[in-house]
Amino acid sequence: MTQSYRVAILGATGAVGTELLALLEQRQFPLADLKLLASPRSAGKTLTFKGETLPITAVDEHSFDQVDIVLASAGGSTSRAWASTAVAAGAVVIDNSSAFRMDANVPLVVPEVNPQAAASHQGIIANPNCTTILMSVAIYPLHQIQPIQRIVASTYQSASGAGARAMEELKLQTQAMLQDQPAIAEIFPYPLAFNLFPHNSPLNQQGYCEEEMKMVNETRKIFGVPELRVTATCVRVPVLRAHSESINLEFAQPMSVEQARAAIAQAPGVKLVEDWSANYFPMPIDASGQDDVLVGRIRQDLSHPCGLELWLCGDQIRKGAALNAVQIAELLVEKNLLKPAMAMA
Ligand code: A2P
Repeated sequence: MTQSYRVAILGATGAVGTELLALLEQRQFPLADLKLLASPRSAGKTLTFKGETLPITAVDEHSFDQVDIVLASAGGSTSRAWASTAVAAGAVVIDNSSAFRMDANVPLVVPEVNPQAAASHQGIIANPNCTTILMSVAIYPLHQIQPIQRIVASTYQSASGAGARAMEELKLQTQAMLQDQPAIAEIFPYPLAFNLFPHNSPLNQQGYCEEEMKMVNETRKIFGVPELRVTATCVRVPVLRAHSESINLEFAQPMSVEQARAAIAQAPGVKLVEDWSANYFPMPIDASGQDDVLVGRIRQDLSHPCGLELWLCGDQIRKGAALNAVQIAELLVEKNLLKPAMAMA
């Protein structure tokens, strides 16, 4: 008999939460029970799963009793508030927030890149930042051929990265501006419709925002190369869903475009999208709703003999968040890793 598991989604009403629900259904995750948790604002509301109406409850200290896996996507403070309760109740938390990502006791996992890291979990596994997941999946096949020495990333990030309300805000701003009305910004600091601005996360003393430092630090942790040279510029653009990234890679030895193309064409989780005669390459509109990260425009860096340029688009809500989390849950089931290696300190 196939074993099945009791799963809770914390943040079930959010942009990632609703995608988690859809993915558990689409991928036929072996469920014995499914609990939908959110804030008290959503208590009493319902969501549909496999044609059934499921209640949403406000998270409390008993929410994780009889739960094997918690898929958490309700922000860092909610994860910090509830993860230890869930772990104490015997669940494994797959956390989409940044709360525990750089904790040495918490594996940071992209299943196509470092699935082995999941085995060392102590109750919490972190899902990396969305831009980092998309970049990691795309460049890891090249790193396997020849270690990457340096990464320069520039991102073009959609509204979905800031949640369901941010997506709604972009739609309302667009409608308002088309009617010559002012664009009201409440979630984002500035109007995003017909505009763009550097990523709206806190800046450090060196002038890098949090999102950029996530790309630096998380990529190092996922690749297991603490000294990897990574720099990033993250920009929010008026796209509803799916992030784009321009990536410059430097290797120790030249890597041919053909070699890179062949590696990406056969790697899991990525799809080579290049039609040079039509000038057709990955676009966020094509990546939306897709599992694969679309990669294209692979070309020699004209300024460096060991450099390559590439362009990618990936669904931030799917592979950048919900899909990666569900893949981690599938990995735990497949490798029988649901019992924590040891109790949380
Ligand atoms: P709610 O809808 O009840 O506010 P998004 O990232 O799309 O904005 O979604 C955030 C998710 O996190 C929502 O499901 C939201 O629930 C949930 N959430 C936000 N704050 C809390 C909290 N304090 N406790 C539990 N869930 C929360």
